[in-house]
Amino acid sequence: MQNFNFYNPTRIIFGENAISELQNFISKKYKILMIYGKGSIKENGIYDQVKLALKDYNLLEFGGVEANPSYETLMKAVTIVKKEKIDFLLAVGGGSVIDGTKFISAASLFDGNAWDILSKKVEIKKAISFATVLTLPASGSEMNNGAVISRKESHEKLVFSNELVYPQFSILDPSVCTSLPKEQIANGIIDAFVHVIEQYLTFPVNSPLQDRFAESILNTLIEEGPKLFANSSDYESAGNIMWCATMALNGLIVCGVPEDWSTHMIGHELTSLTGIDHAQTLAIVLPGVLSVMKENKKIKLLQYAEKVWNIDEVDESKKINLAIEKTEKFFHFFNVKTKLSDYKVSLGVIDEIVARFEKRQLKLGERSDITSDKVREILRVRL
Ligand code: NZQ
Ligand code: ZN
Repeated sequence: MQNFNFYNPTRIIFGENAISELQNFISKKYKILMIYGKGSIKENGIYDQVKLALKDYNLLEFGGVEANPSYETLMKAVTIVKKEKIDFLLAVGGGSVIDGTKFISAASLFDGNAWDILSKKVEIKKAISFATVLTLPASGSEMNNGAVISRKESHEKLVFSNELVYPQFSILDPSVCTSLPKEQIANGIIDAFVHVIEQYLTFPVNSPLQDRFAESILNTLIEEGPKLFANSSDYESAGNIMWCATMALNGLIVCGVPEDWSTHMIGHELTSLTGIDHAQTLAIVLPGVLSVMKENKKIKLLQYAEKVWNIDEVDESKKINLAIEKTEKFFHFFNVKTKLSDYKVSLGVIDEIVARFEKRQLKLGERSDITSDKVREILRVRL
């Protein structure tokens, strides 16, 4: 195993009616800003639960954070935070609202141009405390210190991370899944699945426990995902999927092992240029990364074929191809298409994505060897 330094301060409050515990973890002297999306919480009762739990608090609201949260929208919330002297933020939503809240928490105390936090990775020194009420199991943002923020005017989607933007606590009540549309359940399962792959399908470093953590999450997503997809009110499978998604990206399974993230880096560009949902971009790109980089990933691909897909094929090349096929079929099970042509993505978009990696001179993947040429190869096999 490689060296690592694992830190995660986020408390998780999991279970039915967990939202009612909010007041046990927020000081009554705080002036709070509740941040949410386009209004799903007002249709599914989550808003009412939060308002009831915080009825004795000084609570303001900011709604309208879009999917793929935009800098432009979030800066409006920053203005309110400063003007109203907000002490605490409460994100009520999925990855977009939680990521948006992380940015608001940092930008509200940032001296200078807040976009530099993302574009120049300028280190933040302070952040406003915040917590989350998760409404969509997918991103893992409820228990990590990363956020992905878009800028509409420049079609960018950039990442920042800092220990100061771990949620103080997150409320995970599986019953929030009842109101999820099927395509969001699918997105969540696929996003969590690919998070694990990015931290597992790399190269071996003699980390059997880490590998088994990863394989356990993958196997549980494969077992429980179809149940939740069939019935969004299935509390048990919702709870299992929710915990898989949180554990898939809270820093634990990446301890001591190499990380890839090329699928995500390419996927973010695809979303920023086309608006395709985050998880759908991963479903398109991942089979391309696995096939173009199969030599690099050979040993772990063979382990993945066996431990996750129970493939007992003797011929190694056939075994690997079968594993990649099964992965793509898993995405199809959730009615998620996996080819660029399914989403009418033009060759011009591929050129723009390649040019962006070329300009940034970024080398992606666990061996930093996925150059812009490889990115083109990966996308071309996904046409
Ligand atoms: O606008 P609202 O009302 O919130 O509706 C949302 C949105 O329309 C809706 N929704 C959420 N919970 C619901 C619900 N509808 C009915 N019932 C509920 N209980 O679902 C739609 C999508 O929500 P969103 O938050 O965008 O989805 P998700 O949780 O998949 O988050 C995607 C974002 O997470 C980022 C992605 O880049 C993307 O911007 N990620 C964040 C990561 C992180 N912080 O670690 C890592 C991930 O790789 C990912 O990049
Ligand atoms: Zn993701």
